Amino acid sequence: MIDSIRRKSWIYMSMRKVSMHMHMKAMRDMRVIVCWFILFVSITTQSSVGKTTRHLKWEVEYMHWSPDGVEGTVMAINGRFPGPTIRARAGDTIHLELMNKLHTEGLVIHWHGIRQLGTPWADGTASISQCAINPGETFLYKFKLDKAGTYFYHGHYGMQRSAGLYGSLIVEVGKGENEPFKYDGELNLLLSDWWHKGFHEQQVDLFSKPMRWVGEPQSLLINGRGQYNCSLAAHFSNFSTSECKLRGDEQYAPQVLHVYPNKTYRLRIASTTSLSLLNLAIEKHKMLLVEADGNYIQPFSVQNMDISSGETYSVLFTTDQNPKTNYWISISVRGRNPKTPQALTILNYHLNSASRIPHSLPPVAPRWDDESYGKAFYNKIFALNGNPKPPAKHDKRLVLLNTQNFIEGYTKWAINNVSLVLPSTPYLGSIRYGLSNGFDQEPPPDGYKHGYDVMKPAPNKNSTYGSGVYMLRFNATVDVILQNANMIKDSVSETHPWHLHGHDFWVLGYGEGEFVAEKDEGRFNLKNPPFRNTGVVFPYGWTAVRFVANNPGVWAFHCHIEPHLHMGMGVVFAEGVRHIKEIPTQALSCGLTAKMFMKINH
Ligand code: C2O
Ligand code: CU
Repeated sequence: MIDSIRRKSWIYMSMRKVSMHMHMKAMRDMRVIVCWFILFVSITTQSSVGKTTRHLKWEVEYMHWSPDGVEGTVMAINGRFPGPTIRARAGDTIHLELMNKLHTEGLVIHWHGIRQLGTPWADGTASISQCAINPGETFLYKFKLDKAGTYFYHGHYGMQRSAGLYGSLIVEVGKGENEPFKYDGELNLLLSDWWHKGFHEQQVDLFSKPMRWVGEPQSLLINGRGQYNCSLAAHFSNFSTSECKLRGDEQYAPQVLHVYPNKTYRLRIASTTSLSLLNLAIEKHKMLLVEADGNYIQPFSVQNMDISSGETYSVLFTTDQNPKTNYWISISVRGRNPKTPQALTILNYHLNSASRIPHSLPPVAPRWDDESYGKAFYNKIFALNGNPKPPAKHDKRLVLLNTQNFIEGYTKWAINNVSLVLPSTPYLGSIRYGLSNGFDQEPPPDGYKHGYDVMKPAPNKNSTYGSGVYMLRFNATVDVILQNANMIKDSVSETHPWHLHGHDFWVLGYGEGEFVAEKDEGRFNLKNPPFRNTGVVFPYGWTAVRFVANNPGVWAFHCHIEPHLHMGMGVVFAEGVRHIKEIPTQALSCGLTAKMFMKINH
C-alpha cells in the first residue's frame, strides 16, 4: 500500500524537490546565477525582416552521469545530457560557437538532416568537411535551416556519438506558413542506446585483432533516460529485474509526457542509436505518420513503428482513451536478438493525479526476427503531393556492395571491397585547393565483380583500405544501389540504415537478393517515392536511391550504425567543389591545408 502511494506521487514530489534545491543553491551564491546566465541563457536572437539569427554558445565536456542508473561518463553540452534542444524556424540562421572543453580530444558536431546549402564546411564531419576542433578551441558553426522538420545533431568524430554527444534539432515552419496537418500540442522523443563500457574502450575493441564486438547495449534511453537492473513494469518483464524504486529526481527517472484528454499531439521522434533498430509504440493509441526525415509523407496509421538509427519521424495521436489511467510508451529492440529490455516512459493524462505507473502490460513489439514486418512498414511510406519529384532518368549509377571482410586479420566493413579510412586533411580542403596528397586519387569502383554471390560469405580476397572519393558531376542525377550481402559468418546478413549528408534522396525501391537492372529498374517508384536522408537496406536485399548532386561540397554517405561506420562502412561524394565561395580557414587548420595557409602567409 505504502509502495503504491509512493509510486503514485514520485514524479510530482521530485519536481518540487528539484526546484527547491535549485532555489536554495542560487540564494546561497550569486555567482551561480551569473554562471547559469552565461551558460544556459546564451541564446539570443536578432531579427532582420522576419528571418532570425539564433546565437548559441556551447561548451562540450565530460561529465559524470547515470543515464540508466549506473554511473558513467557522458559528453555533455553546457552541463546537460542529452544536449540542449535547438528549436528554430525555417529560414533562420544558426550561429553557434562551439567550445571544446574536452581535455585531450578533438571534437565536431554534425547537424543531421540539415543540407548545409552553401556552407559545406559547417556539416560537422571530421576529416571530411572540417578539422576536428582542438581542446581549448572554439569553432563557429554558421548555417541556415532551409527546411522545416524534425532533425537532430551529434558528434561525428570517432565514436563520440556513442559517448552521448547528441540532442534534438527542431525546425518549425516559417512565419505565416502552415503544416499540412493540425495538432494541439507537441512532444519530443530522442531515442538512443547505452553501453556501460566507455566508447574509447569500444573503439579499441573494434580495432583489435581479433575484433571484439561491442555487443548489445545495456539500456535503451528515451530523452537520455533508461533503467538498468530495474523496470517500471517489472512484473511484466521477461528480463529478471525488480521494480524501480524511483523518487523521480534521479538522472535516469523517465521523463513523463503530460497530455490533456481529447487533443491531438504531434510526437517528434529521432533515433540516434549507435546500433539498435527500435520499435516504438504508445499503448492503446494509434499513431498517424506524417513526416519522415524532414519531409511530409502520405499519412498512414500504425499501432507501432520501426525506427532505424538516423531516421526521424513525426506522428500524430489523439488522447481519446480513458483519462482515468495512464499509458505506456515503449521502445524495443528489433532486428537483433534482444538482450536489452525495452525502455518505458509514461503518457500522463492531466486529469490524473501526478504520474501513476500504468497497471497494464506495456506494448509488445513484433518479434525481433520478423523481417517481413519491417519491410511492410517501410513499403507503406510515400511522399505527400508537393514533395519534389525525382528526375525520370539517372546520369550515373553506383552499385555499392556491402560486405564484412577481414583485412590483415582485422574485421572491417567494405564497400565494393574498399573499407573507408579517413585522411588527416579534410577532403573539402584537399579538393578545393587541389592537394593531391590529401587522399587516394583513384576513385573507388562504381560496382562489384560480376558473379559475386551475395548469399555466401565474402571470399575476403582483395579487400583493401581506401580514402578515395566518388567525384560526381555537378547537377548530375545519381542512382545508388545499396546491395546487401552475407557477412563473414555463414547465413547472416544485417539491416543497414544508410545516411546521406548534404542531400535528401528518393527511395525508389527495395528488393530481395541481387539487384538486376533489366528486371528491377522497371519497378522503381518514380511517382511518389519517399524523399529522405536515411534509407535502410534489408538483409540479403537491395535498396535503390536517387539524388541530384546539386550541393557543392564533400559529403559522407554511410551506414548510421556507429561501429559499422568506424569499421569502414561508408563512402565519400564530392560535387561542384569549385563553386564553393569561401571556406573559413578555421575549418582547415590541420594537415596539408594548414601547411598551405602557412606558406601563403610567408
Ligand atoms: Cu547522423 Cu554521418 O551522420
Ligand atoms: Cu551497418
